[in-house]
Amino acid sequence: MLALDTSKKLSFNKLIADGDLVIVYEKHDTMKAVNVCEGSIFQNRFGVFKHSDWIGKPFGSKVYSNKSGYVYLLAPSPELWTLVLSHRTQILYIADISFVIMYLEIVPGCLVLESGTGSGSLTTSLARAVAPTGHVYTFDFHEQRAASAREEFERTGVSSVVTVGVRDIQGKGFPDELCGMADAVFLDLPQPWLVIASAAKMLKPDATLCSFSPCIEQVQRSCEALRTNFTDIRTFEVLLRTYEVREVKKDSMRGHGGSPSQQPPCKRRQTSEGSNKQESMSSTIMARPSAEARGHTGYLTFARLKCST
Ligand SMILES: C[S@@+](CC[C@H](N)C(=O)[O-])C[C@H]1O[C@@H](n2cnc3c(N)ncnc32)[C@H](O)[C@@H]1O
Repeated sequence: MLALDTSKKLSFNKLIADGDLVIVYEKHDTMKAVNVCEGSIFQNRFGVFKHSDWIGKPFGSKVYSNKSGYVYLLAPSPELWTLVLSHRTQILYIADISFVIMYLEIVPGCLVLESGTGSGSLTTSLARAVAPTGHVYTFDFHEQRAASAREEFERTGVSSVVTVGVRDIQGKGFPDELCGMADAVFLDLPQPWLVIASAAKMLKPDATLCSFSPCIEQVQRSCEALRTNFTDIRTFEVLLRTYEVREVKKDSMRGHGGSPSQQPPCKRRQTSEGSNKQESMSSTIMARPSAEARGHTGYLTFARLKCST
């Protein structure tokens, strides 16, 4: 995931090697994380794929089974990892994650504190954002969850920039050794208001905190606690509208939606070959709002540490 080359630069030009983690992609909702192992096979409804055929190919390659079925072998980015990881807890998804990283101003070299670690969905993206020179200290009070997260950070290649601690953050706060060192603090805890005083001590002047809570009552209590040491307190709910993009037969569109003039508005219709002929084709590409769109996930409350002088 974090292909660091010898000069500690991020490098994405690697060829697939024995031992690498790859995302085996069938379609956007059917993907699996697989560690390549010379001599092993991957099997799905399209047939049997030999790992040895994958070694030496660039990430993104289309590879074939014994029955001429195919899958794509994708590089394990945090975006894809979030979709395939095993859920040990509720997790943060891409829309919230991207908003958090942008609003917390997390860039390479930052030191970030997080609790709880949960399934490590956010941590993996935080790790890539701070790499190669920053660090994420993430804490969970659940020993088994912390251990599983550590193993997965090894597997995904981010362990050099992540430290997982077992600690009751609501009871004890963040460790004193990290006082005044954090560029950002992120909380995904049931009672985040208990941690806000400790988070204030950890942050550098003018640095930011974010707390994720599913319920508005939690947000209200957190905002009360934030008023003492923080300013610029803002809460957001990120709602993502996804569209399904697929090829449909023109005849089937008539059956459902009447004549082409009654079709949903779109700027341009393309055939699968990429030309823009409007009427001479038998199928077309349509984008329509996805029925599976995710609704409310949680509220993201951001606040900036007040300067003490
Ligand atoms: C919803 S999960 C976090 C999910 C995570 N943000 C992700 O994207 O995968 C909340 C985590 O907080 C942990 N937790 C709850 N109370 C805690 C406490 N007092 N101290 C540390 N961790 C705690 C739980 O064990 C759980 O793993």
